[in-house]
Amino acid sequence: MAIHLILSIILFGLTLCFEPSNSVENGSTGSKKMVPVGVILDQDSGVGKMGKSYIAMAVSDFYARYADYKTRLNPAAMKNSVKDPVVAASAALELMKNERVQILIGPQTSEEAKFAINLGNKAQIPIISISAPSPSLSPNQNPFFIRACQGDYSQIKPLTSIFQTFGWRQAIVIYEDTEFGNGLIPYLTDSLQQIETRVLYRSPISPSSTRLNISKELENIKAMDTKVILVHMTALLGSQLFVLAKHAGMISEGYVWIVTTELSTLLGLDPLEKKVIDSMHGVLGVRAYVPNTKTLQDFKTRWNLKRINLFGLWAYDTIWALAKAVELISHESSNASTQSVSSRNSTTTGKVFGLIVSESGKGLLQKLQSTRLEGLSGQFRLIRRQLKVEKYEIINFRGSKSGESETVIGYWMPKKGISADLVENGKVANSSSLEELKQRIIWPGNHHPQVPPKGWVIPAPGKKLRIGVPQTTAGFREFLNIKWDPETFKVTNISGFSYDVFMAALDQLPFKVPHEFFADENNATYDDLLYQIKLQ
Ligand SMILES: *[C@@H]1O[C@H](CO)[C@@H](O)[C@H](O)[C@H]1NC(C)=O
Ligand SMILES: *[C@@H]1O[C@H](CO)[C@@H](O)[C@H](O)[C@H]1NC(C)=O
Ligand SMILES: *[C@@H]1O[C@H](CO)[C@@H](O)[C@H](O)[C@H]1NC(C)=O
Ligand SMILES: *[C@@H]1O[C@H](CO)[C@@H](O)[C@H](O)[C@H]1NC(C)=O
Ligand SMILES: *[C@@H]1O[C@H](CO)[C@@H](O)[C@H](O)[C@H]1NC(C)=O
Ligand SMILES: *[C@@H]1O[C@H](CO)[C@@H](O)[C@H](O)[C@H]1NC(C)=O
Ligand SMILES: *[C@@H]1O[C@H](CO)[C@@H](O)[C@H](O)[C@H]1NC(C)=O
Repeated sequence: MAIHLILSIILFGLTLCFEPSNSVENGSTGSKKMVPVGVILDQDSGVGKMGKSYIAMAVSDFYARYADYKTRLNPAAMKNSVKDPVVAASAALELMKNERVQILIGPQTSEEAKFAINLGNKAQIPIISISAPSPSLSPNQNPFFIRACQGDYSQIKPLTSIFQTFGWRQAIVIYEDTEFGNGLIPYLTDSLQQIETRVLYRSPISPSSTRLNISKELENIKAMDTKVILVHMTALLGSQLFVLAKHAGMISEGYVWIVTTELSTLLGLDPLEKKVIDSMHGVLGVRAYVPNTKTLQDFKTRWNLKRINLFGLWAYDTIWALAKAVELISHESSNASTQSVSSRNSTTTGKVFGLIVSESGKGLLQKLQSTRLEGLSGQFRLIRRQLKVEKYEIINFRGSKSGESETVIGYWMPKKGISADLVENGKVANSSSLEELKQRIIWPGNHHPQVPPKGWVIPAPGKKLRIGVPQTTAGFREFLNIKWDPETFKVTNISGFSYDVFMAALDQLPFKVPHEFFADENNATYDDLLYQIKLQ
């Protein structure tokens, strides 16, 4: 039994085993080198509060285990970015200049992170984000930026796979008109295009939109034939949107709603209003898969947590990796010189805002990048300074009545694609696995599970498809033979091979297409007929 209690951590090729302990840090830090860590979060937001508490838990757990370490991360320098990029940037500057932080965690959103990342590059201070996923903030272009959370780009394949699995060929995308929202959409559209699914309409929604603004836009979308709607928003705006969509009667049979990772991950965070949960009944979502390991279960028990959050787990794992890296650096630098990680070369000044270039930044960055960790969120591993997230789970929101507000209905893995269960190595998901997944889904409006929505409907009742046909005064009547009313040009009788093929094709469609034939007014060529399409 004891063996199950052992939590093993593989770091830099060493395997260290220990039993988790409930004890917290001794507090005897007198002989320890304190390493100041700056933290910038929106302390009023769910992510901010949660991030703060997971960071504190990580520091406590880590030094309870590695009590003999000579260094101590000290994340005491916390600042509130109050959702403002300028406040976030000045907080970063203040932390770097005055508090002399060696590492900065946050800022939280992609907007806020943007400026801080530039400052980090100048001062050579690693900026670690646990929640800024936008592809527009690329670690590739920012040598001191580390993304210790999933980058949004990686969810494109799972999302595209969902469209492919259900054969939806058209989509509407509703997204937040921010750095976060705009960053993903071009990549997503391209990827859908590759499987011949067209994004027919994009709807950017500003976070400052009123309820009326959003409702109006929803009415526009409701009038469209496409019923597959992908939502890429943060929790605040997204939960508002779903309540309004429900009100507009759009969370109902025939509709397909899919949310990206941000909403799938964050909705579990704050105990949401019942109203929001109910409005999302039948919605599909993707989010990074976290294996339910013994380590994770022990963590929950130790801290008496009812539910966990992915961003929190990433923050926790980041602190562990960071604490390890800092200790290793201090060993190295203590041999070479008296310089330690907690002091900086104050003779080197940056060109901007009197920033002092950090001496330890580069080394820290390197150590962090070579860190491998069996963390709470699974394997913690940075690839090109970005956390590698490979497996996704597909979830189905179930409303508040069913007890659990969401259910995992399947998984997505690279090379294997979508399946109902986590397929083992080498196996590829088979068609019966996909059938099983489809049957697990409850669609909006409690739609019968075996028949997924088609994703679009025929136009409003009364409207008919208008089909132009050439007059058949000349040519082979075997192909097309029509009689028409010379007053209205409506075709009264039609026959021939071309007509038969057309009708056979209509029969193959799983729905009816009301239609009418019209003879062309003049003895038109096919070119003239095509011109009539332009004239509608
Ligand atoms: C923590 O306290 C225990 C017992 O009081 C002691 O043996 C240990 O050395 C202390 N650890 C540190 C890091 O001071
Ligand atoms: C909301 O609607 C009002 C009135 O139509 C308009 O003036 C305003 O610009 C809209 N706001 C946004 C964020 O779209
Ligand atoms: C630092 O010194 C210790 C003890 O002399 C030695 O074991 C270790 O390898 C040295 N580390 C480096 C990076 O030189
Ligand atoms: C500190 O900065 C000065 C001036 O750029 C440089 O000459 C010196 O090598 C730096 N010290 C260290 C330890 O890197
Ligand atoms: C297909 O997958 C399902 C679920 O993973 C499994 O039970 C079944 O045996 C598989 N069938 C074949 C033919 O591989
Ligand atoms: C339509 O044309 C076909 C073939 O020429 C003919 O058999 C049929 O009676 C016609 N129907 C009407 C309503 O004129
Ligand atoms: C169409 O062409 C035929 C034969 O060339 C002619 O008899 C007929 O009057 C033309 N109809 C119109 C509407 O121009």
